[in-house]
Amino acid sequence: MYPLRRNRILRHSNAIRHLVRETIITPSDFLVPLFVVEGNGVKDEIPSMPNYFRLSLDNLAKEVKELWNMGLCAVLLFVKVPDNLKDNTGSEALNEHGLMQRAIKTVKDACPDMLVMTDVALDPYSTFGHDGIVSNGIILNDATNEILAEMSISHAKAGADFVAPSDMMDGRIQIIREALEDEELTTTGIMSYAAKYASAFYGPFRDALDSAPSTSGDAPKDKQTYQMDPANRFEAVKEAEMDVEEGADIIMVKPGICYLDIVREVKNAVDVPVAVYQVSGEYAMLKAAAERGWLDHDAVMMAQLIAIKRAGANIIASYFAKDAVALMG
Ligand code: PBG
Repeated sequence: MYPLRRNRILRHSNAIRHLVRETIITPSDFLVPLFVVEGNGVKDEIPSMPNYFRLSLDNLAKEVKELWNMGLCAVLLFVKVPDNLKDNTGSEALNEHGLMQRAIKTVKDACPDMLVMTDVALDPYSTFGHDGIVSNGIILNDATNEILAEMSISHAKAGADFVAPSDMMDGRIQIIREALEDEELTTTGIMSYAAKYASAFYGPFRDALDSAPSTSGDAPKDKQTYQMDPANRFEAVKEAEMDVEEGADIIMVKPGICYLDIVREVKNAVDVPVAVYQVSGEYAMLKAAAERGWLDHDAVMMAQLIAIKRAGANIIASYFAKDAVALMG
């Protein structure tokens, strides 16, 4: 009781604040998302993601070496697929010489100890920009799962350490786990996007990969029949628990900042590491505000990253990874 307990004593100096600080961000907290394109010497800035680039394989190799030297030890790969290779079933995803498969090998050649995770979903390969096969205006669940399992095997064989299914089909974790077992790929992990919400925060990412759901034909115009309703909390726990039962090694919640209540809820419910994806729209908002001089970029960035970790994230997927680590010095 005041004045016997003066709480400001623990805030009095930098030294005491450091001593009692509960949450500290380190380079090994981060998973760095990388966008890969065909070509040579390509380093295309993504218009809605200032200072973030699509890289061709040669530049990808350079980038991962730089990340590794900064202490960043895990990447999450996404590919931009040329339109002429897209179809409804994402068949290019299974091409063993496809861009993703080559990207995995490129990272491992450049930086053998870098942990490589790969996005597993049909959307960058789909003519409709959907994460699953479209049939008569709906997204087929079980038929999609078969492809996701084959995709996972293909990525694992190319050298991926983890596959990260981001599609939100039901039951895909078990099907992927069993498929990996059948192929004796017993060291490949699964990071499940377990609580992935249908969100307009993914806009800049869809610009980066040209993967927005199509607005013509009979395909659904959005992803609300598979990604979760932002109004729901209880459902996130159910999704996370089921994915752990099915064999997920890491559970992800996405987006980040607006969903920290979900992060804590999931963290309390499961006994596996929890990852949080601070998504493209979150990155774009801060970059835009900072460009206008309305927010202090570095201070707000660190405040957000600390909040994500404090909420329960063991792993943070963030486009700010490099900026944050550079700031740590
Ligand atoms: C693909 C995928 C998306 C993101 C990660 N994987 C887009 C989507 O579901 O439409 C979004 C990431 C971001 O916005 O940074 N399934």
